[in-house]
Amino acid sequence: MANLKRDENRDQWSSKVGFVLAAAGSAVGLGNLWRFPYTAGQNGGGAFVLVYFAILILVGFTLMLGELVIGRHTQLNAVGAYRKIRKNWGWVGGIGVLASFLILSFYSVIGGWVINYVIKSITGAFTTGDVNMGELFVSFISSPGEPILYHAIFTLLTLGIVMGGISGGIEKYSKILMPSLFVMMILIMLRSVTLPGASEGILFFLRPDFSMITGEVMLAALGQVFFSLSLGMGVIITYGSYLSKAENIPQNSFIIPLVDTGIALLAGLAILPAVFALGFSPDEGPALLFIILPAVFAEMPLGSFFALLFFLLVLFAALTSSISLLEASVSYVVDEFHLGRTQTALLLGFIVFLLGIPSSLSQGIWGNLTFIRGLDFLDSIDFIASNIMLPLSGLFLCIFIGWIWGVDMAVEEATNHGRISFKLAPFWGFLIKWVAPIAILVVFIRGLA
Ligand code: PFF
Repeated sequence: MANLKRDENRDQWSSKVGFVLAAAGSAVGLGNLWRFPYTAGQNGGGAFVLVYFAILILVGFTLMLGELVIGRHTQLNAVGAYRKIRKNWGWVGGIGVLASFLILSFYSVIGGWVINYVIKSITGAFTTGDVNMGELFVSFISSPGEPILYHAIFTLLTLGIVMGGISGGIEKYSKILMPSLFVMMILIMLRSVTLPGASEGILFFLRPDFSMITGEVMLAALGQVFFSLSLGMGVIITYGSYLSKAENIPQNSFIIPLVDTGIALLAGLAILPAVFALGFSPDEGPALLFIILPAVFAEMPLGSFFALLFFLLVLFAALTSSISLLEASVSYVVDEFHLGRTQTALLLGFIVFLLGIPSSLSQGIWGNLTFIRGLDFLDSIDFIASNIMLPLSGLFLCIFIGWIWGVDMAVEEATNHGRISFKLAPFWGFLIKWVAPIAILVVFIRGLA
């Protein structure tokens, strides 16, 4: 990932690959590997996947392009970007920044679980004797101290990278590690779909049962599209602000969601068939990744080696996302309040850590406390941020581009002032003005009703 240092002279991505990797790095993360499979499992499998695709096409691509355009046009953080175009619109960016902050608080709790699983794979916890993967996982996340320690470690890692500047290292490693993750997912998927009894899971995941498509499923899919593509949070606006004026935005807006969806589908195909083959239930929830895949590794030759490699890659993918989450609020505070970058990152990192503690405890001793819709603390924060704040922020983004700033202005920026062709521009204009906002609104209202 190229220079994200932004203080005096605003840097730009060093190369096309740098930007694509950074944006794809932000998009591909726990949302794909952890959240997508379990949300699909809880929401009817194929029905969810179908709705996910519909929303991806109508809303995902559309908003990806919209955010990149606003970011590059204004060269500012999310709040500043809206405000530069229209004085009293900064609050839309504000919703996003706040959501990114809330998401980071539980994201780093899950990131901490991943670190613990890296260690478990080194110490052979999965392979020694007959381990019950469910018990192994539950006894870890429900203990009060350990997960918080790992949450702290994950937060520190995120902080360290954001503070130290993101140049050099991550960009270099991403070029190797992202493709490795892809290859690895294919291997695991192949093992999973060939387990005896896997076909039921494949059908569950790929064959939509239309009667399962409810308002709730649609809202879950909407939230997942936003979460997975890092939309509605100002992250893509911020990343777009570092994009060179010569870059082809329409092309990038296509590639990033494509890569992201590819990885999510692979994760679904790696996990859900195994759920059925191994006699688990698909609506296991957030535990799914951590229980099913170790069980699959146990069925593979060199299982403990694959487990280690896999959880290391998941950790890397999670970090390239968490740094973008933190970057969104850090760049906002640095730009708006003129605080130092290091100071800001430390302060925000500390608040994120504190905010994550109840999420961590909600998996154990605070497990009985429910907040929204009978959800525990972690799931409630996720619900508010992903299923309410992000869609709202996305809705206002559509209104902003379609009706306030104007599609013509946006297309002017997207085509580098007519220097590159964007044949779908009129279609995109129609999507962002009408289709996307109406779709978001309908799903949102139906889902909440
Ligand atoms: N898109 C990331 C994932 O799927 O894991 C999570 C994420 C990163 C969400 C950055 C939002 C964001 F701004």
